[in-house]
Amino acid sequence: MNVSDKYYDEIFHFKGQWDVPSACGLKIIDKPGKTFVIVTELYQDNPGTSVTYAAQSLADQICKAKGLDSSKIVYLECNPDTNSKLSFYDEAYFEVTFSANAAPAYRQLGAEEVRALFGAASKAMHTYTVDKIRAVDAKFEALKIAFAPLTFQAVRALLELGILQKISDAGDAGLTREEAAEQTGVSPYGVGVLAEIALGMNVLKLRPGVGKERFVLGKIGWFLLEDDMTRVNFNFVNDICYQGAYDLCESVRSEKPRGLSVFGENWNTIYEALATLPEQAKKSWFEFDHFYSDIAFPEALPIVFASPPRRLFDIGGNTAKWAIRCCAHDPQVRVTIIDLPGQTAAAEKNAADAGFGDRIELYPCNVLDPAARFPTGADAIWMSQFLDCFSLDQVTAILAKIHEAVTPATTIYVLEPLWDMQRFEASAYSLQATSLYFTCMANGNSKMYRFAELTGAIEKAGFELSCAHHGLGSNSYSLLCFRSGA
Ligand SMILES: C[S@@+](CC[C@H](N)C(=O)[O-])C[C@H]1O[C@@H](n2cnc3c(N)ncnc32)[C@H](O)[C@@H]1O
Repeated sequence: MNVSDKYYDEIFHFKGQWDVPSACGLKIIDKPGKTFVIVTELYQDNPGTSVTYAAQSLADQICKAKGLDSSKIVYLECNPDTNSKLSFYDEAYFEVTFSANAAPAYRQLGAEEVRALFGAASKAMHTYTVDKIRAVDAKFEALKIAFAPLTFQAVRALLELGILQKISDAGDAGLTREEAAEQTGVSPYGVGVLAEIALGMNVLKLRPGVGKERFVLGKIGWFLLEDDMTRVNFNFVNDICYQGAYDLCESVRSEKPRGLSVFGENWNTIYEALATLPEQAKKSWFEFDHFYSDIAFPEALPIVFASPPRRLFDIGGNTAKWAIRCCAHDPQVRVTIIDLPGQTAAAEKNAADAGFGDRIELYPCNVLDPAARFPTGADAIWMSQFLDCFSLDQVTAILAKIHEAVTPATTIYVLEPLWDMQRFEASAYSLQATSLYFTCMANGNSKMYRFAELTGAIEKAGFELSCAHHGLGSNSYSLLCFRSGA
């Protein structure tokens, strides 16, 4: 009856009844305003008292060891699922309330409560707490990192030279090196080096059978060729980040986006440079930017319009995509886009082209300018993929300015992909990697945030989180709603 380590982040050793050495699984989850302490029974791996019998004493020992205020914790006991045929061992969480004069009270958490507690994140987050890779595999992973810039460019060459497409078109029959060379006009040598590393990366596979070696498309190759998310990220890395990434180290040292000099020396942040980027770079930037938030918009719209705002301010409104969607969704709403002058000019044109020129206003403004002030009169303020453009201190400063311009009736909506709220490890990885773009290319001081750090920076400016919707769209965006706390 082994207990899976997915239930806990550490083994906590405590003194059980009669001071018998005992052990339990422990996981501590910080949420705004509450700390959840989750103890898990380890059954055969616990030499002493079970968590249920240790009860209050165990809670006290954990609080003491972790520096927690016992009056501010929510104490939960977990019966882990041990794949036993006895239903008694099915996974269940109980909130335990202690009182001085009576036995502890147990309340089982419903499925919704458990989901809310762990968010969509638990699966991806679990991978960061265990290090179970075999040494031989760890070395292979390290070598993949050592060669990563070369293998990235090899995939780019396979795509740009049309080799991957031709091999895909050949289906199960595949192509020999010579056939691929003939069909693409690339030398057999060129096809050879690229196809061989593609085998190493599992992008291509060898067709089993006799005769000459034939290359067929592997599953990873299929994603590189056909998957929109992979394509958008790949082009973004190639056209925006690749060259500047060489200056990542210097960017970290200086907290300035040193790689941005690839596009000229005139810019402090990429946002000022956007309108003047080379066409291919601009295309890749906008495709990347829109790909993600656009997918969450349809699920966000009914939430925002559940109590329909008459005036909505879209800060960082960019090309007016959200503003146009709002106007199409609700004929009463008027939207003001607040963004840098380069962007508001493009947004104005897009709004007019969509037939909403009379309902979408522009307010050109650099929100970091100490003299900048926000207009008043908004029923709702919308910020989508905007706050990740700033450091946490800047987020608090921007929100403090917003606080001056709103009333307690104004709802602040923040749409962000939070990396600790992702369902899949691959999504969290993409966001962690996107942070590096902010460091070396965008501004040098922002990143993709975690739930608690972003919420904390906003609450510091005088707002309170009123609700949070996670898992919006196929990329698991979070829509956080705030109201003025004062
Ligand atoms: C990543 S884009 C998000 C665009 C859009 N809201 C979306 O969800 O796709 C960030 C936007 O913030 C704007 N922005 C960045 N820094 C700014 C600043 N200092 N003042 C005003 N707007 C800024 C950029 O111009 C850009 O339009």
